[in-house]
Amino acid sequence: MLSGKRIILGVTGGIAAYKAVFLLREFQKAGAEVRVTMTPSATRFVGLDTFASLSGHEVAIDIFPEDSDSTDWTRHIYWGEWADLFVIAPCTANTLSKIAHGTADNMLTSTVLAARCPLLICPTMDGEMYESPSVTDNLKTVQEFGYHVLEPEAGFLASGLEGKGRLPEFDVILEKADEIIGSIEGPLAGKKVVVTAGPTREYIDPVRFISNPSSGKMGIAMAEAALRLGAATHLIHGPIHVPHPEGVTTESIISAEDLFKAIQNHQDADVIIMAAAVSDFTPSTTHQHKVKKDQGSSSIDLKRTQDILAWLGERKLEGQTLIGFAMETENLIDNATSKLKKKNIDWIVANSLSEAGAGFEVDTNVVHLISPSDSLQLKGSKLEVATAVLGHIFKK
Ligand code: CTP
Repeated sequence: MLSGKRIILGVTGGIAAYKAVFLLREFQKAGAEVRVTMTPSATRFVGLDTFASLSGHEVAIDIFPEDSDSTDWTRHIYWGEWADLFVIAPCTANTLSKIAHGTADNMLTSTVLAARCPLLICPTMDGEMYESPSVTDNLKTVQEFGYHVLEPEAGFLASGLEGKGRLPEFDVILEKADEIIGSIEGPLAGKKVVVTAGPTREYIDPVRFISNPSSGKMGIAMAEAALRLGAATHLIHGPIHVPHPEGVTTESIISAEDLFKAIQNHQDADVIIMAAAVSDFTPSTTHQHKVKKDQGSSSIDLKRTQDILAWLGERKLEGQTLIGFAMETENLIDNATSKLKKKNIDWIVANSLSEAGAGFEVDTNVVHLISPSDSLQLKGSKLEVATAVLGHIFKK
C-alpha cells in the first residue's frame, strides 16, 4: 500500500529521533517518497543534513524558510496538500500537547493543521510521562480529532528506567501506515464486510456441550485483512481467546442458532465471510439441569442445525460476495468444489487438516482458494493468507 505514496515524516526532539533516520529508509524501501520536517529541538539529536541527504529534499523546520532569500512562507500549506500520510515519529509530550491544542509554532505543528491527509502519531517518552494525566488527556483528544495513535512499546528506556514509552519497531509502524492508507484507498473502502469466526457450542446441559477446536484465528485474520483493505468490518464470533483486531465491531455468540440469528441482521453486507466452524448438529433437547450419570442415557439425540451459508446462498443479493471455508481430511478440492456449488457461493477457502502448517490452532495456513472459474494455493501466516485471499478476490 505504501508504494508510490507520499509521506511527511515529522521528527520531534526525543532521543528516539535517531531511529527516525532508519524509519525514513524503511518507508523508502516500501516504495514511498518521504519528506522530513523536524522541530527545532529534534536538530539537537540528529543533523538536518542527514535527513536532507537521505530524503533528497530540503528539511523544513521553521514556517519561514531557513534560506533567507526565499519568501516561500506557505510551504506548510502545500506540504500538507502534497502528502498522502503524515507520520510523527517520535512524537514528544510537548508536540503532542501542541497538536491537541492547535498550536502552530513551527513547520511541523503548522503542517499538522494544514494537512489534508491522515496523521499517525507515535508518542515516545518516559513511562511516567506517558502515564501522566495530561498526556493521557491529550492522547484522547487527538484520537477524538480522528488522528491515529500508535501506542509505544514497553521496555528499557533512555532514562535507564523500564516503562512504556519506546518507539515501536519499524515493521509495526509500517504495518500501521499501510493499514491507514489501505483503509482510505483499499478495494473494500466503503464496503460492509461481515466475518464469522471461531467455534459454536451446542449445550447438552448447563455444563456439557458439543464443539470443535477452532481457535478463531483464521476468522480474526480475515477480519483484520478486510479492515486493512478499507472495509467497515463486523466480526461475529463464538467462544474464542484471541484478541479482536482494533477498529472492527464485534458481537459474540454461543450456538449455531445464535449465529444464524445474528447473521440475519447483516444479510445486506457487501461481503460475508463464513470462517466460523459451525456445528452441523445440536442436541434435540438441552437439559435445564446437569444430567446425573445414573439418570443419563449413553446416547444423545441430535438434530441438524441450519446451514447458514447455504441459507445465505439461496438469498444472495445482487453484487454480494459470499465466501465460505471448508476444512477437509480427504478429497480436498473435490469436496470443496461441491460445497461451493451446493451452497451457491462465490469463493471457498479450502484447507486440509493433513497438510503441514494448516488446521486448527496453528498460526500458519495453507489453503486452496476456489471459485467456479479459478483455483490457487496460498501459504503463509494466517494474516498473510487472509490478505492474499481478499487481495485476489477484490483486486482493483
Ligand atoms: N457452515 C454454515 N452452517 C453450518 C455449517 C457450516 O454456515 N451449519 C459453513 C461454514 O462456516 C463454512 C462452510 O459452511 O464456511 C463449510 O463448512 P464445513 O463444515 O466444512 O462443511 P459442511 O457444509 O458442514 O459439510 P460437511 O460437514 O459435510 O463437510
